Formats: sequence, C-alpha cells, structure tokens
Amino acid sequence: MRKILVTSALPYANGSIHLGHLVEYIQTDIWCRYQRMISNEIYYVCADDTHGTPVMLRAEKENITPENLVEQVHQEHSQDFSDFNVSFDNFYSTNSIENKELSETIYKKLTSNNKIEKKEIEQFYDSKKEMFLPDRYIKGECPKCKAVDQYGDSCEECGSTYNPTDLINAYSVISGTAPIKKKTDHYFFKLSECTDFLEKWTKSGTLQPEASNKLNEWFKAGLSNWDISRDAPYFGFEIPDAPGKFFYVWLDAPIGYMASFKKLADEKNLSFDEYWKKGSDTELIHFIGKDILYFHALFWPATLSYSGFRVPSRVYAHGFLTVNGEKMSKSRGTFITARSYLNTIKNPDYLRYYYFSKLNDSMEDIDLNLEDFIAKVNSDLVGKFINIPSRTSGFIKKYFNNTLVPTNEISIQDAKVIVDDLIAIKDEVISLYEARLFSKLNRLLMSYTEKVNEYVNRLEPWVLAKNNDEHRSMSQLHQVCSAALQAFRVLSIYYSPIMPDLILKIAEFYGESSYQSIDAIHENIKNISDYNHLLTRLDKDAIDLMLGQNSS
Ligand code: 2FM
Ligand code: ZN
Repeated sequence: MRKILVTSALPYANGSIHLGHLVEYIQTDIWCRYQRMISNEIYYVCADDTHGTPVMLRAEKENITPENLVEQVHQEHSQDFSDFNVSFDNFYSTNSIENKELSETIYKKLTSNNKIEKKEIEQFYDSKKEMFLPDRYIKGECPKCKAVDQYGDSCEECGSTYNPTDLINAYSVISGTAPIKKKTDHYFFKLSECTDFLEKWTKSGTLQPEASNKLNEWFKAGLSNWDISRDAPYFGFEIPDAPGKFFYVWLDAPIGYMASFKKLADEKNLSFDEYWKKGSDTELIHFIGKDILYFHALFWPATLSYSGFRVPSRVYAHGFLTVNGEKMSKSRGTFITARSYLNTIKNPDYLRYYYFSKLNDSMEDIDLNLEDFIAKVNSDLVGKFINIPSRTSGFIKKYFNNTLVPTNEISIQDAKVIVDDLIAIKDEVISLYEARLFSKLNRLLMSYTEKVNEYVNRLEPWVLAKNNDEHRSMSQLHQVCSAALQAFRVLSIYYSPIMPDLILKIAEFYGESSYQSIDAIHENIKNISDYNHLLTRLDKDAIDLMLGQNSS
C-alpha cells in the first residue's frame, strides 16, 4: 500500500473560486478518489493563501481587518469546494499558528545553513501611504510606445517588457502620488547556491518532460537569489529577529501545505514526520498550474531540502482554461465563478465529467467550449450512459420483481461477455487513472458504454417482452437486461471518482451505500430498487443564465 500526500495549489484569499481554478481541483480530486478506490492511504490537503498586499488593501477598503476578510473568504471557498465535491481531508489557512511556526522553523534552519543573506535594495515607495510598492501597484506611461496607464512590468498596448523604473510619469495606484525611490534591507534566499541540488532533483523523474525543458532553460539563464522579505505594512508573518520585516507571501504559501497536513495529523493522530522528514518513503505530490512551476520546481524543493525536510516526489502541472477558445474575460461574461455555476447549472458532475473528458498528463491548455459542453453532457451522459438503466430496468421491475440474474449465473454467452469484458479492463482503467490520462480513459469507458447500448439494441428486450408467455423468451429477457445492468454497475464503479453525486444515486439503485473499492466490480448483485430518473439534460438556458450572472 502506498502512502501519499497530495496537494492542490492554494487559492488566493482575495477572490472567488472560478471555473479556471476548478480544472485543478477537479483533476486532483479525481486522482485522489481513484487512489482511495484502489485502497492506497492518501491525504489530500489544501488551504487559502492569505498573505500579501492585495488582501491587506482589500480589507482596508472594506473597512474590516485582514483576519476578518480571510475568515469570510475561507467560508466562501470551503462551501464552493464542498459543493463541487472536492474531497479535501483538510482545507486550512496559511494564516494559522501551524504555518507561522513551520515558517519560522524553516527560516531559522535556512539561516543556520547559511542560505539567507541580507542586502540593501532600492524600491519604489509611496510616501503618502508610507509603504513600499509592489510592481503591480505602480503604473505609468510605456517607455516605448508612450501608452498611458501601463503596469510596471509590461505594456498591454505594445507588449514590451521593462522595469518599473523605466515608466514615464510613474504613479502609485494606491494614492496616485509619484513614487519615490527608497533604500531598505531585504532578506534573500541564496537560490543560486542550490543549482547543483536542483539540477539533480529535476532529473530524478519528478517533472513532466515539458516542465523539465522549462527548467533547463532557467538553469541555463542562471538562478538568481530570491527576495523573501517585505517591509511593513504587510499582512503576513513577521520575520524572527527582524522587526518590521515580513515573510513574502510566496515563502509561507507552500509551507501552508505542511501546515494543513500538520493540523490534520494533530486531529487524526497521524505522524507528521512520516510525511515530511528527510528521506521519507511516503510520496508527496503537488498538482499545480503551469504558471507557478518556478515556485514549485525551484524555490520549494530548495527551501525544503536546505531546511532539512523531504522534497516533493512529483509535481504535476496542468495548462490554463480557455472558454470558447479564448482567455476567460470579465467583459464577455466568461470569468465564470464556481457559485454562479452552482446557482444556475447546479449539477457539479457535468463539469467534472467535461473536464475529465478533456484532461491528460500534459501542460496543454484545455478549452471549455460551452456548446460542446452541452452536447457532451447530453449525448454521453444522458444519451449513452444513463440510457442503459433507463431502457432496461423497467422490464426487470415489470416481469422479474426487480431481481437480477447475478453475473456469475448469466448463462447466455453473449450476455456474459459484456460484463466479463468490462471486468477484464480493470487493470487498464487503473493504469490510465494513475497516469492521469483521463481523456483516454474516458474514450475507453465510453466505448464500452456504447457496446452495452449496441448489445441492448441487437437483443431488443422490448421484442422479447412481447412474447411474455414463452418461457425461453422471458428467460432471455431476464438475462439480457440483467447483463446490461450488471455492466452498467461496473461502468459506474469505474466512473465513481468522476461523478460522485450521480454514482451515489446509482449505488443506491443497486441497494449499496457507496463504491469504496474498485473490487466491488466482482460482486454479484441480485436486486435493484425502482429506477428513478438519474440525470436531466443540460439546457442552453441554464448556460445563458450563468453567463448573465458573470457579465459586468
Ligand atoms: O498562484 C496562486 O494562486 C497561488 N495562491 C498559489 C499558491 S500555491 C502554494 F505554493 F502555496
Ligand atoms: Zn507600449
């Protein structure tokens, strides 16, 4: 049995969960549910990423404390995740005592390993607001094309990149005043000294090939030391023995993975060290978006290694979500929040299924094409999958008092084969789940769904039922419908990590409480309950309503 600690990236506490975020949470959740289904010991943890300037300023604007803001957002996020059936073992907060202690421990270890240096730097400062300005809080004219109101790092008009110091007539987004240059001491993590370790770690099978290539580019360019401190005022943890200096949010954010597990371990009496001590033989797997590879494949393993902890076993990066082939956009109404989906479309299984049908193990972007979304849900799930019980269970009720022929008693060869074939692909199903080749797995499962439907079409139970005074015909009817329903049950077990709500209803239909283990495929079911309609078609009106809720 493998012991695995899995994480998804921590969502920022200054905004709502949207469908772009959900690509990752759904991908990770499916993988975790699959691991539980094959009886590995797995813990899935996450937390809100609470620190930094945006949270501090938003709280100020709303006239509440950052702690209050973080608390409100935590409740909102927790509800969104739970409504999408994201099965975290713990969803915590980086603004926690565990995270503070672990961040301090790690920082002190890095210091004693001579991996921290203090250096004076010069930064933009808002003298009205009395704070140093992160790059995104400085705007001005593009030095190249002179476009106004451009951010400090790049121009949206001409695409050129530059330093905030290059902006013409720079101003602070917070107070509107011209920023001045001011000197201050910052703390740096000496990443440049970790290059050998990181090159080795990168080559140890921890990353996807595209991610490894990206890293090689970074190694070639040379690693710079990493600025891990910010000056007050800053919402975060104060650095030990450095009054007025705080850990930069990206220092304590990944430590939030540890802190969330620490909290879980304390509650559940698990061993924290078993998962985090150096040389641990448990697995640590991070699911992330490709935009934060630098943090997870360079800063994070180096931070862990040089502070005496284990390093990640795998980092799995995915691509971005586009909607109808374009970047999500507030003005087109395609910046779709999780809550607006839940309010209008309601059923999380539709989206979970759609993402599943598109995801693979690469960093390619995936597209949520809304027409295709409707078509796929209606044709695959309603037209094919649910079609199996909806066209066969009526005969079982009417003529056989809801009793099934158990799989091991099905005697018609043709009928037996459709169940046996499905049981025979178990190992293939497992290996596709394991490799995160979800879209390939879905094609496999859908091809079997089609086969079962073709079988029912060929054997025409409705014709057999017409001869209900003939014993042979009735026995055949019983076997055909039972085989289809036994096969449907096996398919449902394979699909259980994908569509938890739907599969729960299906388990109840078979008189079972849930499908905990993939080995449930081998059981011989003898009875079903009355069939109640399991799924409704997805309607375009619901999509329009959802887009309406996101238009500004
Ligand atoms: O990019 C983001 O949304 C960050 N909040 C992710 C943090 S992941 C982890 F390292 F903390
Ligand atoms: Zn420009």
